[in-house]
Amino acid sequence: MNKKLHSIADCKIIQLGKHYRPNGNLTAVEGGNKDMGFEIKRVYYIYDVPGATDRGGHAHKELAQMLVAVSGSFDVVIDDGKERKTITLNRPYYGLLLQPGIWREIKNFSSGAITLVLASLPYDEHDYIRSYTKFMEYRNIRR
Ligand code: TYD
Repeated sequence: MNKKLHSIADCKIIQLGKHYRPNGNLTAVEGGNKDMGFEIKRVYYIYDVPGATDRGGHAHKELAQMLVAVSGSFDVVIDDGKERKTITLNRPYYGLLLQPGIWREIKNFSSGAITLVLASLPYDEHDYIRSYTKFMEYRNIRR
């Protein structure tokens, strides 16, 4: 089986709509093709992250996700086994689309940061690749 694997170039920042009002702003996200190309099956959020703590450190085989810094800021490191880059999320109206098969780490959480994650599938531990060595094997990359 020769499955096409995504590269980090497929992980894009999506500008979400911002409804500005004098009494506060509102951003809405819709599943399907409009904002992200997948239907939302699960929502979770990461909060109360202690200083100098990293999250992530895994890849998913099938799961696509969109990450939004709904409060505060953090850095997302994305890696396809050949290239790696860091994207800072610090606005609630930008979403980072993470495709399947991409290694990710989330670092440098600001105080009070909240990571909203919109996911294409229900939680399944079997979908995780939690070791970087196994990730490189999955991508068929030899170092
Ligand atoms: P994990 O995805 O490893 O967190 P992170 O990538 O942010 O470091 O999940 C942490 C724990 O939460 C793990 O024990 C599984 C559990 N969990 C669920 O039960 N449901 C979920 O939807 C998610 C994302 C995690």
